[in-house]
Amino acid sequence: MELQIGNVSAIVLAKEYATPLYVYDKQIILQKIQELKEAFPHARICYAIKANSNLSILKLIAQQGLGADCSNRIEIELAEKAGFDLKKSIFTSVNPSDADLNKALSIGILMNLDDLSIFQRLKKLGLPKRISFRINPGFGAGKFSGIVCGGKDTKFGMSEERATEAYRLAKESGIEHFGIHMMTGSCVLDELYFEEITKAIQTIAENISKKIEIQFEYIDIGGGLGIPYEPFEKSLNLKNIAERIKRIYTSSALLMLEPGRFIVAESGTLLTTVTTIKDNFIGVDAGMTALIRPALYGAYHPILLANNPEADKTEKLTIVGPICESTDCFAKDRSLPKIKEGDILAIQITGAYGFAMASQFNGQPKPAEVLISNGFHSLIRKRETTEDLIKNESN
Ligand SMILES: Cc1ncc(COP(=O)(O)O)c(C=O)c1O
Repeated sequence: MELQIGNVSAIVLAKEYATPLYVYDKQIILQKIQELKEAFPHARICYAIKANSNLSILKLIAQQGLGADCSNRIEIELAEKAGFDLKKSIFTSVNPSDADLNKALSIGILMNLDDLSIFQRLKKLGLPKRISFRINPGFGAGKFSGIVCGGKDTKFGMSEERATEAYRLAKESGIEHFGIHMMTGSCVLDELYFEEITKAIQTIAENISKKIEIQFEYIDIGGGLGIPYEPFEKSLNLKNIAERIKRIYTSSALLMLEPGRFIVAESGTLLTTVTTIKDNFIGVDAGMTALIRPALYGAYHPILLANNPEADKTEKLTIVGPICESTDCFAKDRSLPKIKEGDILAIQITGAYGFAMASQFNGQPKPAEVLISNGFHSLIRKRETTEDLIKNESN
């Protein structure tokens, strides 16, 4: 039997919409949100828009009552368009422009600043009612070094000492409502880690509270919940994590989480057609421009032969795209069934940081995106064309 995505044949989808094609299963997104809500019934969950910012997906997530985690003014605009409640959302920027800060100020979203100097700049633009600062606790975690965002070698957040000064300045400026934030890495599959970061930020919050006599209303532990990509990896047990956090969380502040990957990654599949077979190189029509994670981090994604996913894996094959870069490789020496020209491959777990990181390099209009809902499929983003590559150019 052909691979099914949300009860629809991957082959039918590939024929109808052509490839490369991103397909998302709505049911999986809803299920992941439900898991989060059940594990953290009292927390505020803000979806990290950067993971997948297709407006149909954003609307779906907003309808479930989640807030949004936005990195810049464009993501704030997307959150507004999708119908997220911006009072329940957070703006966590890195090196924001004045335009970003003005946008955040104008809509009253909780501002979470990466440095004291940004607060000083913000003061010239206006004062928000609420402020939060991002702490770098001096450690981080993450599946690849490129997605670790805590520790002295990373550009994110500030030390407890610097943050204390930032809160002092904010208090002196008249701000009365405070949050505190930490996001130290992505794709973490170690349940203990989430307890560790919660402990760390809670302690830092207590220290700052005592030193400058402020109360925190929000403690945000960021995103980072991992999902298993590789056969040997195990899913996180969210209930265990929540239980551990509950045991040590003594603060009266609202706990916030900003998951991105956890909500959307497993819903997505990238379908691609085999164009060329040369020795053990299997050339496909999707490239690193459609899905950059393998090239960028050496990330593993499961790959199935969509026309016969149960076929015996008798070969060792290297799956490569059409881009003029040797990093344009989805899998090296992977055990796969015999593959022929015209076959459809399904590159799985591509709902997060897949299309969102796509580019047009090397004459590659971005792929189309389709959402499967209750056995029906609909196009949620048209395939780009040559016109999309040049439309902003003057000629
Ligand atoms: C500030 C912030 N919050 C949340 C996330 C989401 O992380 P993840 O997709 O690992 O949950 C990110 C990802 O980079 C981030 O930078």
